[in-house]
Amino acid sequence: MTAIHTDFQVQILEGIPSELPKAKPYPTDANRAPKRKDILTQEEKKLAIRNALRYFPKKWHSTLAAEFAHELREYGRIYMYRFQPDYEMYARPIGEYPAQSQQAAAIMLMIQNNLDPAVAQHPNELITYGGNGSVFQNWAQYRLTMQYLATMTNEQTLHMYSGHPMGVFPSSKDAPRVVVTNGMMIPNYSKPDDWERYNALGVTQYGQMTAGSYMYIGPQGIVHGTAITVMNAFRKKLEKGDTPDGKIFLTAGLGGMSGAQPKAGNIAGCITIAAEINPKAARKRHEQGWVDELVENMDELVLRVRRARYEEVPVSIAYIGNVVEIWERFYEEDIFIHIGSDQTSLHNPWSGGYYPAGISYKAANELLSTDPDQFKAAVKTSLQRHATAINKHTERGTYFFDYGNAFLLEASRAGADVMAENGIAFRYPSYVQDILGPMCFDYGFGPFRWVCASGHPDDLDKTDSIALGIMQEIQATAPPEIQQQMADNIKWIEEAKANKLVVGSQARILYADAEGRMKIAEAFNIAVATGLLSAPVIIGRDHHDVSGTDSPYRETSNIYDGSKFTADMAIHNVIGDSFRGATWVSIHNGGGVGWGEVMNGGFGLLLDGSDEAHRRLKSMLFYDVNNGIARRSWARNAEAIFAIKREMERTPGLRVTLAEVVEDDVIDGVV
Ligand SMILES: NC(=O)c1ccc[n+]([C@@H]2O[C@H](COP(=O)([O-])OP(=O)(O)OC[C@H]3O[C@@H](n4cnc5c(N)ncnc54)[C@H](O)[C@@H]3O)[C@@H](O)[C@H]2O)c1
Repeated sequence: MTAIHTDFQVQILEGIPSELPKAKPYPTDANRAPKRKDILTQEEKKLAIRNALRYFPKKWHSTLAAEFAHELREYGRIYMYRFQPDYEMYARPIGEYPAQSQQAAAIMLMIQNNLDPAVAQHPNELITYGGNGSVFQNWAQYRLTMQYLATMTNEQTLHMYSGHPMGVFPSSKDAPRVVVTNGMMIPNYSKPDDWERYNALGVTQYGQMTAGSYMYIGPQGIVHGTAITVMNAFRKKLEKGDTPDGKIFLTAGLGGMSGAQPKAGNIAGCITIAAEINPKAARKRHEQGWVDELVENMDELVLRVRRARYEEVPVSIAYIGNVVEIWERFYEEDIFIHIGSDQTSLHNPWSGGYYPAGISYKAANELLSTDPDQFKAAVKTSLQRHATAINKHTERGTYFFDYGNAFLLEASRAGADVMAENGIAFRYPSYVQDILGPMCFDYGFGPFRWVCASGHPDDLDKTDSIALGIMQEIQATAPPEIQQQMADNIKWIEEAKANKLVVGSQARILYADAEGRMKIAEAFNIAVATGLLSAPVIIGRDHHDVSGTDSPYRETSNIYDGSKFTADMAIHNVIGDSFRGATWVSIHNGGGVGWGEVMNGGFGLLLDGSDEAHRRLKSMLFYDVNNGIARRSWARNAEAIFAIKREMERTPGLRVTLAEVVEDDVIDGVV
C-alpha cells in the first residue's frame, strides 16, 4: 500500500464521510430504475427510515430523515443518493486500491465494475442488470463495504447480508475473504411481494446472479451461451453434414440479454430474425453493431428474408414490430423457419415484459397504465395467438424451444395450446432440457470466466492464447462424447478478440469442464508467478452453471427424478467452495427466473501466482464442477453418469454414489 493516498483512496478509506456530503441533482442522462411498488404501511415506512438512519450519526438524522422519506415516497426505495461518491466508478487496476489484502482489493475491483455506468443498467440505484439485480441496496452500504475491504487483512472475513456489511470477523488465511448472501428468506416469505416489502424496509435485496456476487462481465457472457444454444439447436434440427447457411432462426427481443441473439446467430452462421416491439431498443442494438439490419415493414421483411434464403449469407435482421405478426405472416407466405424461440420478458408478463399483438407499442403502454386488467387480457389473447402460430410451424417441421423466459409457463396459464399429450409437460423443450443440460452441464461444461486485474488488454490477449493452447491440448485426447463441445469452445476463444466483446473490466468467458477450468487456472497462476502477466487474474463463473443453481424451469429443468424442486446442490456448492479455497462465495434466492423460484450461488478466486493459489484452485474448481455432475448422474442423466465415471477413474479421492437404472417393465408391472 502506498503511504500517500490519492483522493480516490482517501475517500475509500473514509467510509461514511465525516462531513455530510452535499445533496446532488439526479443526473439528467441516467437510466433510472423504475419506481417500485408502494407497499409499506405508515408504520413500516417509519421503520424503513429508522433502518436507513442506522448508518449515520445522530446529528444528521433530522436532515436525512426528511430526505429518505422523500426517496421512499418518490422511488419506493431509499437509495441515499447524497452518499454516491464523486469519483469515477470503474474497475481500476488492482494496484490502485488501498488494501491490506490483495484478495480484498480484487473484490473491490469487481464491485466497481458491477457499478460502472458503462456496465450497469441503473448505476445510481446500484443495479447491474435485470431491472432489479442489486449490488447493494444503498450507497451507505457501498461505502462501508469498500472501507472494510480496504482495511481488512487476510485473516478476516467480511460477511455481507443482502448488500449490508455485517462486519469483518477473525478467520484464517484459508477462509474466504467475503461471504455473500442475497435474499435468503424463511421459505414461506419468498413471494414477489415479500421482496417488495422487505427490500423497501432495507433488510434484503434481489442479487440476481452475478450482480450481488460481483461477477458480472457485461454482455459477452450471454453471447457465448446463446451462440452455443443456437449452434446446437441447428445441429439437432439439421441432417449430419448440413450447415446453418441460409437457414432461419426466428426469435423476439433485443433487450438486455435477448440483444445477444443476433450476434450469436451471426456466429452460428444463420439468418437471424429478431422482432423487437420497442423501436428504441431495436435502434440501440443496431447502432451498437449487435444486429446487422433494421426492417420496419412486414412486406419488406418477407422480401429481405427470401433474398437472404437465396443468397445463403449469414445476416441478422431486427424487425420493429410484434413477433406474433412474423409467425403468422411467415406461415401464410410458406417461409420455413428452421429454429424458433422467444426472449420477450415473460418472467414479468403483466408489467410490460411482453407486448400483446394487435396493439401498437404506444397504445399498449397507455393501456398498461390506464387499464392493467385489460392489458392482462390482451397479453393472454396474444399468447394464445402466438402459440397457435408456432404450433402450425412446428407441424411443418420447425424446431421450437423455450429460452428460459417462462414463455411456455405463461402461455399455458393463458390457456394456449402448449401442453404435451400427458397434460403435465409442455409440448416443447426448454433450452436447458434439450441443449445446455445434456450437452454442457451434464458433462461439466459451463460459463467459466476470468478478469485481468491489471486492466491491460495485452494481458487479456495473453490469457486468450494460454486458454486456447490448453483447450487444443485437451481436445487432442478428449473422448468422442465431448469433441463437439471442445471444438465449439476453441472456435469461440479463437474469435473472441475479433468479436470485440469487452465492456468494462478486461474479462473473458469460456465454456469449459472441470479439467479445462483447472488447467487454464493453473496456467494463469504460473503466468502471474513468472511475470508473463503483469498482475493477478480473478477467476469465477456465472451462477447459470453445472452446480451453482437449482432452478426447476431452467438450470435443473433436465433433472427428472423429482429433485428439481430441491436446492441441496446449490447449498452444498457454496459451502463446499468456501472451505476449499474460494476468495469469496455467494448464495442467492432469485436470479434470472425470479425471487422464490431459484437458489443460485457462485464464487471468485484470486490467482496471485502463489503456491497457495495453486492449491486452492485445484481443490475448489474440482468440487465446484463435480458436485453438480454427481447430482446430475444420481438423477440418472446418461451424460453425467459417463462424466462422473470418467472422473472417478482419473481421480483417486473421488467416490460418488452411482444410480442403478431400472427397466420400465419392472415398474410398470407393480404400479
Ligand atoms: N439470454 C439468455 O441467456 C437467457 C437465459 C435465460 C433466460 N432468459 C430470459 O429472456 C428474457 C429476456 O431477457 P432480457 O434481459 O433481454 O429482457 P428485456 O426486457 O431487456 O428484453 C426483452 C425485449 O422483448 C421485447 N418484447 C416484448 N414483447 C414483445 C413482442 N410481443 N414482440 C417483440 N418484442 C417484444 C421488449 O420490448 C424488450 O426489449 C428474460 O425473461 C430472461 O430471463 C435469457
